Amino acid sequence: MPLLEVKNLTVEFHIPEGVLKALDGISFMLNEGEVLGIVGESGSGKSTTALSIMNLLPAPSGRIKEGEIFFKGEPLLEKIDELRGKDISMVFQNPLNSLNPSLKIGQQLMEVLQEHMDMSEEKAWNESIEALRMMGIPDPETMMNRYPFEFSGGMRQRAMIAMAMLCRPKLLIADEPTTALDVTIQAQILRIFKRLKKATQTSIIFISHDLSVIAQIADRVLIMYAGKILEISSVRDLFKRPLHPYTQGLLKSIPSFSKEKGKKLYSIPGNVPNLLNPPSGCVFHPRCPYTKEICNLETPPNFKVGNSTVSCWLFKGADVVETT
Ligand SMILES: Nc1ncnc2c1ncn2[C@@H]1O[C@H](COP(=O)(O)OP(=O)(O)OP(=O)(O)O)[C@@H](O)[C@H]1O
Ligand SMILES: [Mg+2]
Repeated sequence: MPLLEVKNLTVEFHIPEGVLKALDGISFMLNEGEVLGIVGESGSGKSTTALSIMNLLPAPSGRIKEGEIFFKGEPLLEKIDELRGKDISMVFQNPLNSLNPSLKIGQQLMEVLQEHMDMSEEKAWNESIEALRMMGIPDPETMMNRYPFEFSGGMRQRAMIAMAMLCRPKLLIADEPTTALDVTIQAQILRIFKRLKKATQTSIIFISHDLSVIAQIADRVLIMYAGKILEISSVRDLFKRPLHPYTQGLLKSIPSFSKEKGKKLYSIPGNVPNLLNPPSGCVFHPRCPYTKEICNLETPPNFKVGNSTVSCWLFKGADVVETT
């Protein structure tokens, strides 16, 4: 049984301009111990996917319109309040939003342990120090008494990951955990995730708009575009044989993977669609080099190709994956 299963999830934001469909019937699963990468350009629905699982969509505008989420085979949203912060935790895209600016780091860590694990103050203090140490924070005893604003960006991110991992969750969702950091710090944080992957049983959803980051950490990857999943592949298959034209475009845009070294780096022509008024048929068809007639008429189903699934008419004739 997969640890997490998302079925046909559709999420809307009701905004003054109209109804924006941020997720349009996405389905995927996450196996125990697996690291699943989610990749896509800005606005493709990565954070919305994460926030839906956590049941933290901004109220009242964000709503789950359709679909189901299962955790260990049971409907998740009914009991997410019990699980959040303990069995399922998240590192948010903006760490300042999730650390309380007016509480010392140590106090925040200890509160998590005392609330979820019913720990004595002394034990919580020691465990918190250990958690910070594990994340490579120097002099953790002193750092316990500091406020978030006294931490550098990289240290804050480490503290966030320490906090998310405190209760040894079954599932950790990391939303662009390296994006806001400079390159050296990015590499350090990525190393921390690699270590977590090796040393813990925690399954991880790792979100990034950068496929080269995902390649280093994930086992499988979801390629998202305009609220849809266009391809699900293992990292190996994805780089060996990208199926969807969008995935091929993303790969060509990565400097180290580009075949034409020295030439100007490829970028996919056109822009991401406006989700208030999405294109008909396949959402990618206005930017796709292989568009044919059916592409703007009908939304492609998910075709099964090897161990991957791909939503593209180029694979018409392959078996269709049932998702509901
Ligand atoms: N609170 C909100 N109110 C209205 N629309 C929203 C809200 N949050 C997200 N959206 C819209 O939903 C769509 C998906 O946004 P989401 O934040 O999930 O994208 P993302 O893939 O995480 O992008 P990024 O890489 O920039 O973080 C976008 O069109 C975005 O404008
Ligand atoms: Mg986001």
